[in-house]
Amino acid sequence: MNDTRGNPVGTTSPAALSHAEIALWRLVSFYDVPLADLDAAAAEDPAWCWPHLMRAGFLLSLTEPALLPDARAALEQAELRAAGATPRERAHHAALSRCAAGDWLGACTAWEQVLLDHPRDLAALQWAHFFDLHRGDARNLRARVARVLPEWPHDDALRPYVLGLLAFGLEECGHYAQAEAVGREVCAGAAKVPAATHAVAHVLEMQGRHEEGRQWLAQMRPVWAEDNGFAVHHAWHLALFHLEAMDLPAALALYDTEVGGANPVLTLQRLDGASLLWRLQLLGADVGARWSDIALGWDLGVRDVGHSAFNDLHAFVVLLGLRDRVRAQALLAAAQRRAERGAEAPLQAAREVGVPLMRGLLAFHDGELAEAIRLLLPLRERAAPLGGSQAQRELIDWTLLAACTAPGGERRLGRALLNERRVARGNTPLAAHWRARLTR
Ligand SMILES: [Fe+2]
Repeated sequence: MNDTRGNPVGTTSPAALSHAEIALWRLVSFYDVPLADLDAAAAEDPAWCWPHLMRAGFLLSLTEPALLPDARAALEQAELRAAGATPRERAHHAALSRCAAGDWLGACTAWEQVLLDHPRDLAALQWAHFFDLHRGDARNLRARVARVLPEWPHDDALRPYVLGLLAFGLEECGHYAQAEAVGREVCAGAAKVPAATHAVAHVLEMQGRHEEGRQWLAQMRPVWAEDNGFAVHHAWHLALFHLEAMDLPAALALYDTEVGGANPVLTLQRLDGASLLWRLQLLGADVGARWSDIALGWDLGVRDVGHSAFNDLHAFVVLLGLRDRVRAQALLAAAQRRAERGAEAPLQAAREVGVPLMRGLLAFHDGELAEAIRLLLPLRERAAPLGGSQAQRELIDWTLLAACTAPGGERRLGRALLNERRVARGNTPLAAHWRARLTR
Protein backbone atom coordinates (compact mmCIF):
# COMPACT_ATOMS: atom_id res chain seq x y z
CA MET A 1 0.00 0.00 0.00
CA ASN A 2 0.92 3.64 -0.44
CA ASP A 3 -0.27 6.58 1.59
CA THR A 4 -2.19 9.38 -0.15
CA ARG A 5 1.09 11.03 -1.18
CA GLY A 6 2.46 7.86 -2.80
CA ASN A 7 4.84 6.84 -0.03
CA PRO A 8 5.04 3.02 0.39
CA VAL A 9 3.82 1.84 3.81
CA GLY A 10 4.33 -1.50 5.52
CA THR A 11 0.68 -2.10 6.37
CA THR A 12 -2.29 -3.52 4.51
CA SER A 13 -4.77 -2.03 6.98
CA PRO A 14 -6.59 1.07 5.69
CA ALA A 15 -7.77 1.74 9.26
CA ALA A 16 -4.21 1.73 10.62
CA LEU A 17 -3.08 4.01 7.81
CA SER A 18 -5.98 6.36 8.45
CA HIS A 19 -4.97 6.78 12.11
CA ALA A 20 -1.35 7.35 11.05
CA GLU A 21 -2.48 10.06 8.62
CA ILE A 22 -4.24 11.91 11.44
CA ALA A 23 -1.11 11.54 13.56
CA LEU A 24 0.94 13.07 10.73
CA TRP A 25 -1.45 16.02 10.52
CA ARG A 26 -1.10 16.55 14.27
CA LEU A 27 2.68 16.38 13.93
CA VAL A 28 2.78 19.18 11.37
CA SER A 29 -0.10 21.29 12.73
CA PHE A 30 0.73 20.94 16.46
CA TYR A 31 -2.96 20.36 17.21
CA ASP A 32 -2.90 18.09 20.24
CA VAL A 33 -0.22 15.38 20.20
CA PRO A 34 -0.18 12.38 17.85
CA LEU A 35 0.32 9.68 20.51
CA ALA A 36 -3.31 8.49 20.84
CA ASP A 37 -3.67 8.24 17.05
CA LEU A 38 -0.44 6.25 16.88
CA ASP A 39 -1.71 3.88 19.57
CA ALA A 40 -4.88 3.43 17.52
CA ALA A 41 -2.84 2.74 14.37
CA ALA A 42 -0.75 0.16 16.25
CA ALA A 43 -3.92 -1.48 17.58
CA GLU A 44 -5.30 -1.81 14.04
CA ASP A 45 -2.08 -3.35 12.72
CA PRO A 46 0.12 -4.64 15.57
CA ALA A 47 2.78 -5.81 13.09
CA TRP A 48 3.34 -2.37 11.52
CA CYS A 49 6.54 -0.61 12.55
CA TRP A 50 5.52 2.92 11.47
CA PRO A 51 3.34 3.95 14.46
CA HIS A 52 6.30 3.14 16.70
CA LEU A 53 8.73 5.03 14.47
CA MET A 54 6.45 8.05 14.46
CA ARG A 55 6.15 7.90 18.21
CA ALA A 56 9.95 7.91 18.49
CA GLY A 57 10.28 10.78 16.01
CA PHE A 58 7.68 12.90 17.75
CA LEU A 59 9.24 12.38 21.19
CA LEU A 60 12.80 12.99 19.97
CA SER A 61 11.85 16.23 18.22
CA LEU A 62 10.84 17.71 21.59
CA THR A 63 14.50 17.56 22.82
CA GLU A 64 13.29 16.51 26.26
CA PRO A 65 15.73 14.12 27.98
CA ALA A 66 12.94 12.68 30.15
CA LEU A 67 11.23 11.43 26.97
CA LEU A 68 14.34 9.68 25.62
CA PRO A 69 13.68 6.28 27.28
CA ASP A 70 10.19 6.22 25.76
CA ALA A 71 11.60 7.16 22.34
CA ARG A 72 14.23 4.43 22.55
CA ALA A 73 11.61 1.88 23.63
CA ALA A 74 9.50 2.86 20.60
CA LEU A 75 12.52 2.32 18.34
CA GLU A 76 12.97 -1.15 19.86
CA GLN A 77 9.32 -1.91 19.19
CA ALA A 78 9.82 -0.80 15.59
CA GLU A 79 12.89 -3.03 15.31
CA LEU A 80 10.83 -6.04 16.39
CA ARG A 81 8.55 -5.32 13.40
CA ALA A 82 11.35 -4.70 10.89
CA ALA A 83 10.55 -7.80 8.79
CA GLY A 84 7.46 -6.15 7.31
CA ALA A 85 8.98 -2.68 6.95
CA THR A 86 9.42 -0.94 3.60
CA PRO A 87 12.91 0.38 2.68
CA ARG A 88 11.57 3.89 3.43
CA GLU A 89 10.51 2.87 6.93
CA ARG A 90 13.86 1.14 7.51
CA ALA A 91 15.63 4.34 6.44
CA HIS A 92 13.53 6.27 8.99
CA HIS A 93 14.56 3.78 11.66
CA ALA A 94 18.23 4.43 10.85
CA ALA A 95 17.70 8.22 10.92
CA LEU A 96 15.80 8.11 14.21
CA SER A 97 18.44 5.85 15.78
CA ARG A 98 21.11 8.40 14.91
CA CYS A 99 18.92 11.12 16.34
CA ALA A 100 18.38 9.20 19.59
CA ALA A 101 22.18 8.83 19.88
CA GLY A 102 22.56 12.63 19.72
CA ASP A 103 23.84 12.59 16.12
CA TRP A 104 21.44 15.30 14.90
CA LEU A 105 23.47 16.07 11.78
CA GLY A 106 23.65 12.39 10.82
CA ALA A 107 19.89 12.10 11.31
CA CYS A 108 19.24 15.10 9.02
CA THR A 109 21.57 13.59 6.39
CA ALA A 110 19.67 10.29 6.59
CA TRP A 111 16.27 12.04 6.27
CA GLU A 112 17.61 13.92 3.25
CA GLN A 113 18.28 10.53 1.62
CA VAL A 114 14.67 9.53 2.34
CA LEU A 115 13.48 12.77 0.71
CA LEU A 116 15.52 12.12 -2.44
CA ASP A 117 13.44 8.98 -3.02
CA HIS A 118 10.23 10.26 -1.42
CA PRO A 119 10.01 14.06 -1.67
CA ARG A 120 6.47 13.94 -0.27
CA ASP A 121 7.47 12.12 2.91
CA LEU A 122 6.28 14.86 5.25
CA ALA A 123 7.49 13.15 8.43
CA ALA A 124 11.05 13.08 7.04
CA LEU A 125 10.76 16.74 6.06
CA GLN A 126 9.23 17.86 9.37
CA TRP A 127 11.78 16.00 11.52
CA ALA A 128 14.74 17.16 9.41
CA HIS A 129 13.32 20.70 9.67
CA PHE A 130 13.05 20.42 13.46
CA PHE A 131 16.65 19.28 13.73
CA ASP A 132 17.80 21.93 11.25
CA LEU A 133 16.25 24.35 13.76
CA HIS A 134 17.85 22.62 16.74
CA ARG A 135 21.23 22.74 14.93
CA GLY A 136 20.74 26.36 13.83
CA ASP A 137 21.08 25.39 10.16
CA ALA A 138 19.21 28.34 8.62
CA ARG A 139 20.21 27.48 5.08
CA ASN A 140 18.56 24.07 5.23
CA LEU A 141 15.51 25.40 7.06
CA ARG A 142 14.84 27.04 3.70
CA ALA A 143 16.69 24.92 1.12
CA ARG A 144 15.68 21.46 2.33
CA VAL A 145 12.03 22.46 1.99
CA ALA A 146 12.69 24.08 -1.39
CA ARG A 147 14.25 20.85 -2.67
CA VAL A 148 10.91 19.04 -2.32
CA LEU A 149 8.24 21.74 -2.68
CA PRO A 150 7.78 21.54 -6.50
CA GLU A 151 7.03 17.81 -6.10
CA TRP A 152 3.89 18.67 -4.12
CA PRO A 153 0.68 19.12 -6.17
CA HIS A 154 -1.19 22.31 -5.38
CA ASP A 155 -4.29 20.39 -4.30
CA ASP A 156 -2.48 18.26 -1.72
CA ALA A 157 -4.16 18.86 1.66
CA LEU A 158 -0.80 18.91 3.45
CA ARG A 159 0.98 21.28 1.03
CA PRO A 160 0.15 24.36 3.17
CA TYR A 161 2.20 22.80 5.96
CA VAL A 162 5.18 22.45 3.63
CA LEU A 163 4.76 26.12 2.70
CA GLY A 164 4.62 26.98 6.42
CA LEU A 165 8.04 25.36 6.86
CA LEU A 166 9.35 27.20 3.82
CA ALA A 167 8.10 30.56 5.12
CA PHE A 168 10.01 30.09 8.37
CA GLY A 169 13.14 28.96 6.52
CA LEU A 170 12.97 32.02 4.29
CA GLU A 171 12.63 34.24 7.34
CA GLU A 172 15.60 32.68 9.13
CA CYS A 173 17.66 33.31 5.97
CA GLY A 174 16.63 36.97 6.01
CA HIS A 175 14.37 36.74 2.93
CA TYR A 176 11.71 38.68 4.79
CA ALA A 177 9.50 39.85 1.91
CA GLN A 178 9.25 36.37 0.41
CA ALA A 179 8.73 34.79 3.84
CA GLU A 180 5.90 37.19 4.65
CA ALA A 181 4.24 36.66 1.25
CA VAL A 182 4.34 32.87 1.54
CA GLY A 183 3.20 32.93 5.16
CA ARG A 184 0.29 35.30 4.50
CA GLU A 185 -0.79 33.31 1.45
CA VAL A 186 -0.97 30.13 3.52
CA CYS A 187 -2.88 31.90 6.30
CA ALA A 188 -5.41 33.21 3.78
CA GLY A 189 -6.28 29.60 2.88
CA ALA A 190 -8.60 27.21 4.64
CA ALA A 191 -5.97 25.11 6.46
CA LYS A 192 -4.96 26.13 9.98
CA VAL A 193 -1.17 26.31 9.81
CA PRO A 194 0.41 27.72 12.98
CA ALA A 195 3.86 27.37 11.38
CA ALA A 196 2.79 30.02 8.85
CA THR A 197 1.34 32.44 11.43
CA HIS A 198 4.60 31.98 13.31
CA ALA A 199 6.77 32.70 10.25
CA VAL A 200 4.93 35.98 9.62
CA ALA A 201 5.31 36.91 13.30
CA HIS A 202 9.05 36.37 12.93
CA VAL A 203 9.23 38.70 9.94
CA LEU A 204 7.35 41.41 11.87
CA GLU A 205 9.64 40.86 14.86
CA MET A 206 12.86 41.13 12.84
CA GLN A 207 11.62 44.32 11.17
CA GLY A 208 10.45 46.01 14.38
CA ARG A 209 6.82 46.14 13.14
CA HIS A 210 5.48 45.66 16.66
CA GLU A 211 2.02 47.17 16.16
CA GLU A 212 1.42 45.05 13.08
CA GLY A 213 2.77 42.10 15.04
CA ARG A 214 0.27 42.60 17.85
CA GLN A 215 -2.54 42.92 15.36
CA TRP A 216 -1.38 39.87 13.41
CA LEU A 217 -1.27 37.61 16.43
CA ALA A 218 -4.61 38.93 17.67
CA GLN A 219 -6.18 38.32 14.26
CA MET A 220 -4.67 34.82 13.97
CA ARG A 221 -5.37 33.84 17.58
CA PRO A 222 -7.97 31.18 16.51
CA VAL A 223 -5.16 29.38 14.66
CA TRP A 224 -2.43 29.34 17.29
CA ALA A 225 -3.96 29.72 20.73
CA GLU A 226 -6.31 26.81 21.29
CA ASP A 227 -5.27 23.17 21.80
CA ASN A 228 -2.03 23.93 20.05
CA GLY A 229 1.50 22.96 21.00
CA PHE A 230 2.73 26.22 19.45
CA ALA A 231 0.58 28.42 21.72
CA VAL A 232 3.19 29.26 24.38
CA HIS A 233 5.75 30.17 21.72
CA HIS A 234 3.28 32.41 19.88
CA ALA A 235 2.42 34.10 23.20
CA TRP A 236 6.16 34.66 23.67
CA HIS A 237 6.28 36.36 20.27
CA LEU A 238 3.34 38.53 21.27
CA ALA A 239 5.22 39.48 24.46
CA LEU A 240 8.25 40.45 22.32
CA PHE A 241 6.02 42.87 20.39
CA HIS A 242 4.93 44.35 23.73
CA LEU A 243 8.60 44.74 24.69
CA GLU A 244 9.42 46.44 21.39
CA ALA A 245 6.60 48.88 22.25
CA MET A 246 8.07 49.17 25.79
CA ASP A 247 4.73 48.06 27.19
CA LEU A 248 6.28 46.09 30.05
CA PRO A 249 3.02 45.63 32.03
CA ALA A 250 1.42 43.97 28.99
CA ALA A 251 4.42 41.64 28.60
CA LEU A 252 4.31 40.74 32.30
CA ALA A 253 0.57 40.11 32.14
CA LEU A 254 1.03 37.89 29.11
CA TYR A 255 3.75 35.96 30.92
CA ASP A 256 1.33 35.33 33.77
CA THR A 257 -1.56 34.20 31.60
CA GLU A 258 -0.03 32.46 28.58
CA VAL A 259 3.74 31.99 28.75
CA GLY A 260 4.42 30.93 32.34
CA GLY A 261 2.33 29.34 35.05
CA ALA A 262 0.74 26.05 34.07
CA ASN A 263 1.01 26.75 30.32
CA PRO A 264 4.37 25.16 29.50
CA VAL A 265 4.80 21.41 29.87
CA LEU A 266 8.08 21.00 27.98
CA THR A 267 11.51 22.57 28.29
CA LEU A 268 11.06 23.84 24.73
CA GLN A 269 8.10 25.87 26.02
CA ARG A 270 9.59 26.85 29.39
CA LEU A 271 12.70 28.30 27.82
CA ASP A 272 10.62 31.01 26.15
CA GLY A 273 9.40 32.01 29.61
CA ALA A 274 12.99 32.16 30.87
CA SER A 275 14.02 34.23 27.86
CA LEU A 276 11.11 36.62 28.41
CA LEU A 277 11.86 37.10 32.11
CA TRP A 278 15.54 37.73 31.32
CA ARG A 279 14.62 40.39 28.75
CA LEU A 280 12.09 41.99 31.08
CA GLN A 281 14.74 42.18 33.78
CA LEU A 282 17.24 43.72 31.35
CA LEU A 283 14.68 46.45 30.72
CA GLY A 284 14.37 47.10 34.44
CA ALA A 285 11.09 45.31 35.14
CA ASP A 286 10.55 43.72 38.52
CA VAL A 287 9.56 40.16 37.64
CA GLY A 288 8.92 39.28 41.28
CA ALA A 289 8.59 35.58 42.07
CA ARG A 290 8.26 34.57 38.44
CA TRP A 291 11.72 32.97 38.33
CA SER A 292 10.53 30.50 40.96
CA ASP A 293 7.42 29.95 38.89
CA ILE A 294 9.33 29.07 35.72
CA ALA A 295 11.67 26.79 37.69
CA LEU A 296 8.76 24.61 38.81
CA GLY A 297 8.75 21.32 36.95
CA TRP A 298 12.02 22.14 35.15
CA ASP A 299 14.94 19.86 35.94
CA LEU A 300 17.61 22.51 36.46
CA GLY A 301 20.22 20.06 37.78
CA VAL A 302 23.23 18.71 35.95
CA ARG A 303 21.82 15.26 35.19
CA ASP A 304 20.63 15.92 31.66
CA VAL A 305 23.23 18.47 30.63
CA GLY A 306 24.52 17.95 27.10
CA HIS A 307 21.31 16.79 25.45
CA SER A 308 20.59 20.26 24.04
CA ALA A 309 22.93 23.23 24.42
CA PHE A 310 20.00 25.57 23.80
CA ASN A 311 17.94 24.07 26.64
CA ASP A 312 21.00 24.04 28.95
CA LEU A 313 21.57 27.73 28.29
CA HIS A 314 18.03 28.62 29.31
CA ALA A 315 18.20 26.45 32.44
CA PHE A 316 21.32 28.44 33.28
CA VAL A 317 19.43 31.70 32.74
CA VAL A 318 16.77 30.53 35.21
CA LEU A 319 19.44 29.74 37.83
CA LEU A 320 20.89 33.24 37.38
CA GLY A 321 17.39 34.66 37.69
CA LEU A 322 16.98 32.74 40.94
CA ARG A 323 20.37 34.12 42.03
CA ASP A 324 21.44 30.53 42.65
CA ARG A 325 25.07 31.02 41.72
CA VAL A 326 26.18 27.66 43.16
CA ARG A 327 23.86 25.62 40.96
CA ALA A 328 24.56 27.88 37.99
CA GLN A 329 28.29 27.23 38.31
CA ALA A 330 27.66 23.50 38.72
CA LEU A 331 25.60 23.51 35.52
CA LEU A 332 28.29 25.46 33.68
CA ALA A 333 31.02 23.08 34.86
CA ALA A 334 28.94 20.03 33.88
CA ALA A 335 28.19 21.52 30.44
CA GLN A 336 31.89 22.13 29.89
CA ARG A 337 32.92 18.62 31.01
CA ARG A 338 30.27 17.01 28.85
CA ALA A 339 31.05 19.17 25.80
CA GLU A 340 34.69 18.11 25.83
CA ARG A 341 33.73 14.46 25.55
CA GLY A 342 31.92 14.21 22.23
CA ALA A 343 31.57 15.36 18.64
CA GLU A 344 27.77 15.24 18.37
CA ALA A 345 25.98 18.43 17.31
CA PRO A 346 24.64 19.42 20.78
CA LEU A 347 28.07 18.96 22.38
CA GLN A 348 29.86 20.85 19.64
CA ALA A 349 27.31 23.65 20.03
CA ALA A 350 27.93 23.68 23.78
CA ARG A 351 31.70 23.81 23.30
CA GLU A 352 31.68 26.59 20.73
CA VAL A 353 28.72 28.67 21.86
CA GLY A 354 26.79 27.41 24.89
CA VAL A 355 29.59 27.32 27.46
CA PRO A 356 31.22 30.66 26.54
CA LEU A 357 27.76 32.19 26.43
CA MET A 358 27.00 30.94 29.94
CA ARG A 359 30.32 32.45 31.09
CA GLY A 360 29.37 35.77 29.52
CA LEU A 361 25.95 35.78 31.17
CA LEU A 362 27.52 34.88 34.52
CA ALA A 363 29.98 37.78 34.19
CA PHE A 364 27.06 40.09 33.40
CA HIS A 365 25.14 38.73 36.39
CA ASP A 366 28.20 39.44 38.57
CA GLY A 367 28.42 43.01 37.28
CA GLU A 368 31.70 42.37 35.46
CA LEU A 369 30.62 44.31 32.41
CA ALA A 370 33.91 44.43 30.51
CA GLU A 371 34.35 40.68 30.91
CA ALA A 372 30.74 40.05 29.88
CA ILE A 373 31.21 42.13 26.73
CA ARG A 374 34.53 40.44 25.95
CA LEU A 375 32.88 37.01 26.14
CA LEU A 376 29.55 37.82 24.49
CA LEU A 377 30.59 40.04 21.58
CA PRO A 378 32.35 37.39 19.45
CA LEU A 379 29.42 35.00 19.96
CA ARG A 380 27.05 37.28 18.03
CA GLU A 381 28.64 36.11 14.78
CA ARG A 382 28.74 32.41 15.54
CA ALA A 383 25.79 31.63 17.78
CA ALA A 384 23.73 29.76 15.15
CA PRO A 385 24.86 26.21 16.11
CA LEU A 386 23.26 26.79 19.50
CA GLY A 387 19.93 26.25 17.72
CA GLY A 388 16.63 28.08 18.02
CA SER A 389 15.65 31.06 15.89
CA GLN A 390 17.48 34.31 15.22
CA ALA A 391 14.95 36.06 17.48
CA GLN A 392 15.58 33.62 20.33
CA ARG A 393 19.36 33.99 20.03
CA GLU A 394 19.00 37.78 20.26
CA LEU A 395 19.19 37.21 24.00
CA ILE A 396 22.90 37.78 23.34
CA ASP A 397 22.34 41.20 21.71
CA TRP A 398 19.95 42.28 24.44
CA THR A 399 22.43 41.35 27.16
CA LEU A 400 25.23 43.16 25.32
CA LEU A 401 23.09 46.29 25.00
CA ALA A 402 22.27 46.13 28.71
CA ALA A 403 25.97 45.71 29.55
CA CYS A 404 27.03 48.57 27.28
CA THR A 405 24.37 50.96 28.58
CA ALA A 406 24.93 50.17 32.29
CA PRO A 407 26.97 52.65 34.34
CA GLY A 408 30.59 51.98 33.46
CA GLY A 409 29.62 50.15 30.26
CA GLU A 410 31.12 50.49 26.81
CA ARG A 411 29.16 53.41 25.30
CA ARG A 412 30.70 53.43 21.80
CA LEU A 413 29.95 49.75 21.29
CA GLY A 414 26.45 50.22 22.67
CA ARG A 415 25.84 53.02 20.18
CA ALA A 416 27.05 50.82 17.30
CA LEU A 417 24.90 47.88 18.37
CA LEU A 418 21.90 50.14 18.74
CA ASN A 419 22.56 51.64 15.29
CA GLU A 420 22.52 48.13 13.87
CA ARG A 421 19.22 47.45 15.57
CA ARG A 422 17.70 50.76 14.42
CA VAL A 423 18.58 50.09 10.78
CA ALA A 424 16.88 46.68 10.97
CA ARG A 425 13.89 47.65 13.10
CA GLY A 426 13.50 51.41 12.96
CA ASN A 427 13.18 53.83 15.86
CA THR A 428 10.86 51.77 18.01
CA PRO A 429 10.09 52.66 21.64
CA LEU A 430 12.57 49.96 22.64
CA ALA A 431 15.28 51.65 20.56
CA ALA A 432 14.40 54.94 22.28
CA HIS A 433 14.77 53.20 25.63
CA TRP A 434 18.29 51.94 24.80
CA ARG A 435 19.22 55.37 23.41
CA ALA A 436 18.05 57.09 26.59
CA ARG A 437 20.16 54.70 28.65
CA LEU A 438 23.19 55.40 26.45
CA THR A 439 22.94 59.14 26.96
CA ARG A 440 22.07 58.99 30.65
FE1 LIG B 1 9.60 31.80 16.94
